[in-house]
Amino acid sequence: MILNTELEYKGNLFPTKIVFYKKDVDTLYFKSENGVALQVIVQRDSVLRFRFATTAIFEKDFSYGITKYASKGYNRLDIDEDDDNYIITTSKLICHISKLDMRTAIFDAKDNSLICEDELGFHWEEFYEEGGDIVKMSKTSQEGESYYGLGDKPVDVNLKGKRFENWVTDSYAYGRGSDPIYKTIPFYLGVHHKKAYGIFFDNTFRSFFDFSKEKRNVTSFWAEGGEMNYYFIYGPEMSEVVSNYTDLTGRPQHIPPLWALGFHQCKWSYYPESKVKEVTSKFRELKIPCDAIYLDIDYMEGFRCFTWNKEYFPDPKRMVKELADDGFKTVAIIDPGIKIDNDYSVYKEALEKDYFCKRADGAFMKGKVWPGECYFPDYTNPEVREWWSELFRELIEDIGVKGVWNDMNEPAVMDVPGKTFPKDVRHDYDGNPCSHRKAHNVYGMQMARATYHGLKKFSYPKRPFVITRAAYSGTQRYTSTWTGDNVATWDHLSLANNQAQRMCMSGFSFVGSDIGGFAEQPNGELFTRWIQLGVFHPFFRVHSSGDHGDQEPWTFGTTLTDIVRKFIEIRYQLLPYLYTAFWRYAGEGIPILKSLVLFDQEDPNTHYRNDEFIFGEKILACPILEPNAKGRRMYFPKGRWYNFWDNSIIVGGEEIWVDADIDSMPIFVKEGAIIPKYPIQQYVGEKEIEQLELDVYYKKGKESSEVYEDAQDGYDYKKGRYSLRNFTQVGKNKSFIIQQYKSGKFITNYETFKINIHGLPFKIKSIQVDNEEIEIKMSNGDVTLEITKGFRELHIISE
Ligand code: GLC
Repeated sequence: MILNTELEYKGNLFPTKIVFYKKDVDTLYFKSENGVALQVIVQRDSVLRFRFATTAIFEKDFSYGITKYASKGYNRLDIDEDDDNYIITTSKLICHISKLDMRTAIFDAKDNSLICEDELGFHWEEFYEEGGDIVKMSKTSQEGESYYGLGDKPVDVNLKGKRFENWVTDSYAYGRGSDPIYKTIPFYLGVHHKKAYGIFFDNTFRSFFDFSKEKRNVTSFWAEGGEMNYYFIYGPEMSEVVSNYTDLTGRPQHIPPLWALGFHQCKWSYYPESKVKEVTSKFRELKIPCDAIYLDIDYMEGFRCFTWNKEYFPDPKRMVKELADDGFKTVAIIDPGIKIDNDYSVYKEALEKDYFCKRADGAFMKGKVWPGECYFPDYTNPEVREWWSELFRELIEDIGVKGVWNDMNEPAVMDVPGKTFPKDVRHDYDGNPCSHRKAHNVYGMQMARATYHGLKKFSYPKRPFVITRAAYSGTQRYTSTWTGDNVATWDHLSLANNQAQRMCMSGFSFVGSDIGGFAEQPNGELFTRWIQLGVFHPFFRVHSSGDHGDQEPWTFGTTLTDIVRKFIEIRYQLLPYLYTAFWRYAGEGIPILKSLVLFDQEDPNTHYRNDEFIFGEKILACPILEPNAKGRRMYFPKGRWYNFWDNSIIVGGEEIWVDADIDSMPIFVKEGAIIPKYPIQQYVGEKEIEQLELDVYYKKGKESSEVYEDAQDGYDYKKGRYSLRNFTQVGKNKSFIIQQYKSGKFITNYETFKINIHGLPFKIKSIQVDNEEIEIKMSNGDVTLEITKGFRELHIISE
């Protein structure tokens, strides 16, 4: 215990004793003798917000991270006090605030167990050189505590023992441990004694997190300006913490068009038009499914955004249409740097309207990017965002481009120290003018937001698709993302796996990596293993810098091409399964990928696992991360798991060797699962879905699965035109029952299900569908049935 008499701790200042307290509905105000103000806002029973102001005056309450739709309200709020503490009680939490020094301790209201407690608590240091304070918070690390989250950090899943910085940074060919990289997601989860909580430090200045690195028993976070403003989010389940975090910072405003969950092919760059066509034709010729083709910067005229190089692409509208006729959606890159060029309309307009960022003393923020010297729109100005969104009219509405890729939006500047804007650059920050110190981490997010609004307008009545490289908490509301310029190495394959899991735990599930590696070239084996992992990433795109050779599915010889095709086909079969997981994520914030710890935090064996993860709700996948492997050891979490390839069963709770030669990968299905499958298509919409296949994995006992479908694009689903099927299977020794309950107004085209039942432990005497007997078909010991999609109950009876 450190007493508040220690006013000076390594140059830090601390609050002294509380001399004032007031309650205003859901907000409690405290003031210390030395003028520190603390606001505690009871957002929900399980979510408390803490704000500290060192001058007793709070800043205007504005956040790009928090959505206006964040839930508010609680079932219980009692305030008590004893000699030492003010005590806030909700139905989920008890929070003590020390009268002596404003330190807090939070307990689970159910069993009074300690969840999170301040060590030094809030303290600060004046930041004379830059202005304001360096605001700091330290918490005691609990026994056995592990830490997760924090966005795209390229390290192991568990963050314990490490320190990180958050400052959105262009990081070409980053490596294991590089920090910071492209994203700032100042949100982490702590897990100890089987319970999980989260902290979202909603401060956009450069920030730092230390997870028991400097001191074994301390976890701390601090920022180089702004307020100590954080949300404490209780679970106790990790998935509840993530769900509550995305309730605060938002979830995707709509589910992606189904095609966006298909396979995407990209390279820097495919040009001219004949090259693009050569690639897309090859996909169709070799029957490798693909939905999207990307145009990187070379499609532009001198890298000027919203222009076309007419020599390479003489008639973009025709080309985009022809690609669309062949099932390809065109995605084009748009960067923030606008070339300084008096003959360029975008530049001229922004200049006239005064939309470019300026230095402190009024000069324009000038920096070099692909087009040479550029100016940069201030996307933190709502008027600029509106203007920017309008620029997409031609590209989307007229030319027919279906998706936009925002890159270099950290913002990246070439050949300068820090690789970005200097700190003095001014920003509007939605009417809260500030320097780049505060706006840097949200610049890319605001660009992606403006792009998203443009696409939403001009894609209507279809859904937009946007991808961004830079992000701050909340960017998941608008776009998908990828992990930036990785490298074609085995270690990067493993990093891609960790980063995708971490992003999902950090509330941002629409994520993938540059498959095969952006820099350098993979060999065929690495490429194939990466495709295998990519099948299980929400965003599934091959991308490479192109200067190290080709990286198309057919680059590495026919044997590997066949394997790659087989895996991409699996992705297409699993589309309704992934779409259902996406729908759950967009609705409830449940991560699409679940690290094993998130799947079962009570099992300490999961706390340090990196490789295995759950895809959606029911599939356990584990990539092969080494060359020449014939398989690997992997940990199986609790439960019984069917091997996807041969239906053999593994009982969880231990590490087991799994065979997986290059044509295979460890994939397992949770017993009791019902996995929906579409037929293989070369692109989404190629075929009318004439039948939905349901793979049923017998479980003794009860288990439910969901299948969500809609028109695969458009917004009708928001008006109830969706189809949600809830299947419950009940397995007994002598019978097996599947019940279906359907809701929603969407009527699927197909009339029947093909049901494959795996692992039935008995010989069948009869099968009844809604009390009527039907014929029995068996193949390899599995039962296959075709029954009407409207069935209510399927009853299988043993001999
Ligand atoms: C950046 C991007 C990369 C892109 C390249 C050219 O390096 O991260 O994906 O291909 O710029 O636009």
